[in-house]
Amino acid sequence: MDKDAAAVRITQLRNIIEYHNNRYYQQDNPEIADHEYDRLMQELQELEKLYPDDNLASSPTQRVGAAPLNKFSSMEHLSPMLSLANAFSPEEIIDFDTRIKKLAAIDNITYVAEPKLDGLAVNLLYENGRFIRGATRGDGFTGEDVTQNLKTISTLPIQIKKNSYKNMPHSVEIRGEVFMEVESLQKLNRRRLDEGDEPFANPRNAAAGSLRQLDPKITARRPLKIFLYAIGSMSGVNFSNHWEVLQTLISWGFPVNPLIQKIDDINKYLEYFTHMGELRKSLPYEIDGVVLKVDDLELQEKLGNVSRNPRWALACKFPATQETTLISDIIIQVGRTGALTPVAVMEPVIVGGVTVSRATLHNEDEILKKDIRIGDTVIIQRAGDVIPEVVKVVLSKRTGKEIEFQMPVHCPECGSDVVREEGEVARRCINLSCPAQIKENIRHFASRSGLDIEGLGEKISAKYFDAQLISDPADLYYLTEEKLLKINPKAKKSTQNLIAALQRSKNPPLNKFIYALGIRNVGEHVAKILARELGSIENIMASMVDDLTAIHEIGPEIATSIVQFFSEPKNKQVMEKFLRAGVIPQEATVIVKDSTLQGKSFVFTGAMESMPRSTAKAIVEKLGGLVHSTTTGKTTYVVAGREPGSKLDKARSLGITILDEEEFLKLTAR
Ligand code: IVH
Repeated sequence: MDKDAAAVRITQLRNIIEYHNNRYYQQDNPEIADHEYDRLMQELQELEKLYPDDNLASSPTQRVGAAPLNKFSSMEHLSPMLSLANAFSPEEIIDFDTRIKKLAAIDNITYVAEPKLDGLAVNLLYENGRFIRGATRGDGFTGEDVTQNLKTISTLPIQIKKNSYKNMPHSVEIRGEVFMEVESLQKLNRRRLDEGDEPFANPRNAAAGSLRQLDPKITARRPLKIFLYAIGSMSGVNFSNHWEVLQTLISWGFPVNPLIQKIDDINKYLEYFTHMGELRKSLPYEIDGVVLKVDDLELQEKLGNVSRNPRWALACKFPATQETTLISDIIIQVGRTGALTPVAVMEPVIVGGVTVSRATLHNEDEILKKDIRIGDTVIIQRAGDVIPEVVKVVLSKRTGKEIEFQMPVHCPECGSDVVREEGEVARRCINLSCPAQIKENIRHFASRSGLDIEGLGEKISAKYFDAQLISDPADLYYLTEEKLLKINPKAKKSTQNLIAALQRSKNPPLNKFIYALGIRNVGEHVAKILARELGSIENIMASMVDDLTAIHEIGPEIATSIVQFFSEPKNKQVMEKFLRAGVIPQEATVIVKDSTLQGKSFVFTGAMESMPRSTAKAIVEKLGGLVHSTTTGKTTYVVAGREPGSKLDKARSLGITILDEEEFLKLTAR
């Protein structure tokens, strides 16, 4: 093949492969078999190697194809990724404008207004116009390297378009929001339910869950989109205002939200805010507010940051979207701790683009407080999450035929007595073998925040429980393809996938495993503390109440729940079964604590420039020190940031060593 013929064939192959990518990844409806696709890809790869051309960067060979990772590596941002201060009312917006004018000592401020997307912030590094690496926001300083996954987003340029208007920077960080459109989310959620996976609660979770997949092929199947809205660190080019940045991003080939607007008067911004509030219902993606940014970059620099929020920007949040609908029934769900939760079944209604038909009513006190009855017309609202809440009853719509709801005195699932213990809002089913509780327990174990076993959502785990294949989470590891196929003879592929997912889940991080066990009062945070402090499941199981309460943040109630859980004979058996099946949580790296700050106690006051307080706290704790909120005679250091409070005066009066930010950084530098 000569060069010209190769060029023709290369273009042809790229088009064919793009077409099949779309069929496979976006429409979920492939036309050709995998091996045929692989052959096309291979042919293209070979030709591109022999005849490299200018369009190589945007070739399908450069997008999908990397092998799954074991874990993400971390990527440090060249300049920190900041967050935004929030405003919830027009008054706060006006205050912001007044403040800026005063600080800048000028009367005319130009702003840029942008829709605030509800997704996941990412930072993309381009060098000499080429996409090099990309990461999630993480803690603002370091994120997870999700380069391969970002490459699967078809609108993300792998190569910056050259233009004469602006030179290409040698190196530039471009920032934006990865998101999923509402319709795609609903479609994905329906598919997940069918395949036995948990649905995502909101577009943000869906975007995050999709971008943080170790296998880029899975990300490629998720219809992710991206809008870029800022530049981080950059060398070789200068901009004078933010509007110019956005226009340049467009000319470089980046998708930028078309609803951005330049604004020279705060009243026009209020109009924009109201307009967007109306428009949001008809947008294909979810926005939770509008961001207001000072246009002049020099002024931005001058205004600086307070803690991790820039003084020159404001996130103006919309109120939650509300709709009216009718409650046709109230049903009871039994949770894994036996708690009976009343749930309103409603006439389906679209709230902010998402169809909803259920809302949790939390508990009987809540029903009484809001006086919710079956047959009531109610106002419901959704604030980001797909699951809405009932705001109030529309009393003017009462006909007198509404029925007051009575909580059952027996468990609707197993018929056992239910009790409401003193000081508790929930009634609980007291039967430890209540099938609803066990099903919930297994579902919780496999859920995303637990061991995240793909293909084992609510429906599927309930099915295997009902078929008596499993009666506790440890039984999952004794399932075989053969046993499962007896129940689901047609589902060979998904059965194999499930068995593989179970195999993969056998060495979970210790904190995930502890959380997944579903011990009462042990949420994700406590599970992390236990893992960090005790290091192994054996140590946790062997702990007495006193050992546990000696740990910072673990009180007697949590400690008692843990000890009770592991002394329950049934649970002991389950733990043994896990062990026999080879389920061995990874020993947590009990942080071999650097003991530099052992026994030293810190109090922070005022904002730090270089990091949020949570990061500073983590640094101190990593080095063996403690962080307290009040200054006492026992405090070793008070770290004073910008605009410190009364803690500083107290420190002075007690003669405690005071550190400024620089001294603190020196003391903790490793
Ligand atoms: S600017 C200092 N612009 O909102 C600048 N953020 O609450 C920080 N977001 O982490 C970001 N749309 O994930 C900016 N047009 C927009 C945005 C936006 C959504 C998110 C972003 C950020 C969070 C801050």
